[in-house]
Amino acid sequence: MTVTDQPGLPDLPEQTAPADRPARQVLPAEERYAAELAFLAAQDTGPRPPGWALTPRAVVTFVCGSGGEELALPRRRAGLPAKLVIAPKFVGERALVERCVVTLAGERGLLLVGDPGTAKSMLSELLSAAVCGTSALTVQGTAGTTEDAFRYGWNYARLLAQGPTPDALVDSPVLTAMRTGRVARIEEITRCLPEVQDALVSILSERRVTVPELTATEDAVVSAAPGFTVIATANLRDRGVSEMSAALKRRFNFETVQPIADADAEADLIRRQAVAAVQRAGAGFAVDDAVLDALVTVFRDLRTGRSAEGWDVERPGTVMSTAEAVQVAASLGVAAAYLPGGDVLDLLPGHLLGVVRKDDPADHERMLGYWDGPVRRRAEDGSAMWRRLWDLRGNLR
Ligand SMILES: Nc1ncnc2c1ncn2[C@@H]1O[C@H](COP(=O)(O)OP(=O)(O)OP(=O)(O)O)[C@@H](O)[C@H]1O
Ligand SMILES: [Mg+2]
Repeated sequence: MTVTDQPGLPDLPEQTAPADRPARQVLPAEERYAAELAFLAAQDTGPRPPGWALTPRAVVTFVCGSGGEELALPRRRAGLPAKLVIAPKFVGERALVERCVVTLAGERGLLLVGDPGTAKSMLSELLSAAVCGTSALTVQGTAGTTEDAFRYGWNYARLLAQGPTPDALVDSPVLTAMRTGRVARIEEITRCLPEVQDALVSILSERRVTVPELTATEDAVVSAAPGFTVIATANLRDRGVSEMSAALKRRFNFETVQPIADADAEADLIRRQAVAAVQRAGAGFAVDDAVLDALVTVFRDLRTGRSAEGWDVERPGTVMSTAEAVQVAASLGVAAAYLPGGDVLDLLPGHLLGVVRKDDPADHERMLGYWDGPVRRRAEDGSAMWRRLWDLRGNLR
């Protein structure tokens, strides 16, 4: 039985942490998928941009999967399987992933934008692990982020002892990526203040950082090694984000990551991720497919403002993201495993309300409106599942 050890991603050959390492809740993509990455590096011997661990084509295959096709090594390699099916990780447009990969091979940064919970960070992690073998050179953008996070800081003890020397310099993840020709990731870039964001303008165009304090030494200028590039993410829905300057925008290729278009693909993804999440919680997943289908239908109806039947639905203020649908499905699974006896369907309205009623109290009314609309109509049309859900209207307290 193959098991994923990471939220939201499909079954993989077992990837466990080295015995001598303490167990970790989440392994970075480069460790989780080490077998696939090593296989793809040996399987696709085509040309690669400087500093890349895989060919651009293999990066796309790593992220999107091999479509169930078994790939074969051109010749046997010790420690690698002769054939392997690469699992799909990002569910969505292959063309989007191809554009992302082409951008990274070029001279511009890649900015992934979109609603919360649409897998921007996941995509950034996967791309980085595939392109340069690590997803760890990451800056988490906040309102408190300073330029040091994109440039460098100082080890003050050494600074006091030695003065401004290369030894006292503390590289930011971006500077490390420049020195080593790797991918720097900037999460939630628009949470950083505009003047801090703009520290990236010269980094992305001149591809070097000057350290004035070291002007007397040859270390005063750090030039980016081939392979250096930047992947940033931003969700445009959140409050407290700062507009990017035109100068910085021009240095990024913007790619919008949309919610999953296909209902079946989303349902399948949510089921796989919920199963994995409940397994990580040490239990088996025992939630009916019919319950999951109802959950996915509610999420998609409220997210799009249009029911599967084409009826208008008042959208709540919250995003109703795939990520949250996974969490609700996993919660039902954990409840079924650790609080047996009840019917998990009874819990669904409460969990849905927990997702919807975040910012705007009026969203509670909108949820009741959804129950009085599509849920009741489906119940009246004879659906046993929606009849049961309609009978649970009282749980929307
Ligand atoms: N298209 C998708 N393909 C695969 N998994 C997805 C997809 N959309 C959402 N998910 C699931 O949702 C989770 C959330 O994704 P992630 O944290 O990367 O979202 P995000 O867009 O960065 O959100 P935020 O803006 O809140 O940071 C993923 O770990 C994955 O489990
Ligand atoms: Mg994110």
